[in-house]
Amino acid sequence: MEKRDELYAGKAKSVYRTDDPQRLILHFRDDTSAFDGKKKESLARKGMVNNKFNAFIMEKLQAAGIPTHFETLLSDDECVVKNLEMLPVECVVRNVAAGGLVRRLGVEEGQALTPPTFELFLKDDANGDPMINESLAETFGWATPEQLATMKALTFQVNDVLKQLFLDGDMLLVDYKLEFGLFDGQVTLGDEFSPDGCRLWDANTREKMDKDRFRQGLGGVIEAYEEVGRRIGITF
Ligand code: C5P
Repeated sequence: MEKRDELYAGKAKSVYRTDDPQRLILHFRDDTSAFDGKKKESLARKGMVNNKFNAFIMEKLQAAGIPTHFETLLSDDECVVKNLEMLPVECVVRNVAAGGLVRRLGVEEGQALTPPTFELFLKDDANGDPMINESLAETFGWATPEQLATMKALTFQVNDVLKQLFLDGDMLLVDYKLEFGLFDGQVTLGDEFSPDGCRLWDANTREKMDKDRFRQGLGGVIEAYEEVGRRIGITF
């Protein structure tokens, strides 16, 4: 497989075309950003850690029957993925109240959410990724009702797999964001799963082990990501 020109540069990853129109290369960079790109920093080892973390999780999900775009690791900070036609919505599941939910509803941080909640956001940095719903997504053509139902079902299936995986490492999967796209018309998990896009707390101390360490200036960001990985059996 031959790496070609850059197709797109996101805030933390760059996407390259290959000689196969059905395949792309994702390059995980060390760049970290929060608050819609207002806070930015480069963190050594982050690209490598998130690339290996993502590969491990995507393979677990694939093995559990969830279709993902992940194909293979290419280098320390690159992997090969299927070229999806991305749907411009973000799917968020929450097991414990934190972050945006606490800010929006004024509920207590740390409260267990039973059953877990499901939220949709529009991928639109300029408007701060506003919260949307199924009706708006259908009307504006962001996703069909069938695609929305599949994304919701897959997002909850991911919860069943990953909640247990992290609990086995003494961590709580507080919440996470997934993005999907279409490959041959099939709704397929895309983007990445790493501590950049989820919240993970130590199950005993409730210490934050995810990107909130960066958002809140707590330090030890990559050390925490590596500790999460180590606890679930990843070697970096
Ligand atoms: O900010 P909020 O609490 O709504 O985020 C919910 C979850 O989705 C968190 O795990 C956060 O890291 C993730 N998220 C993300 N990218 C966004 C928005 C949220 O990865 N643009």
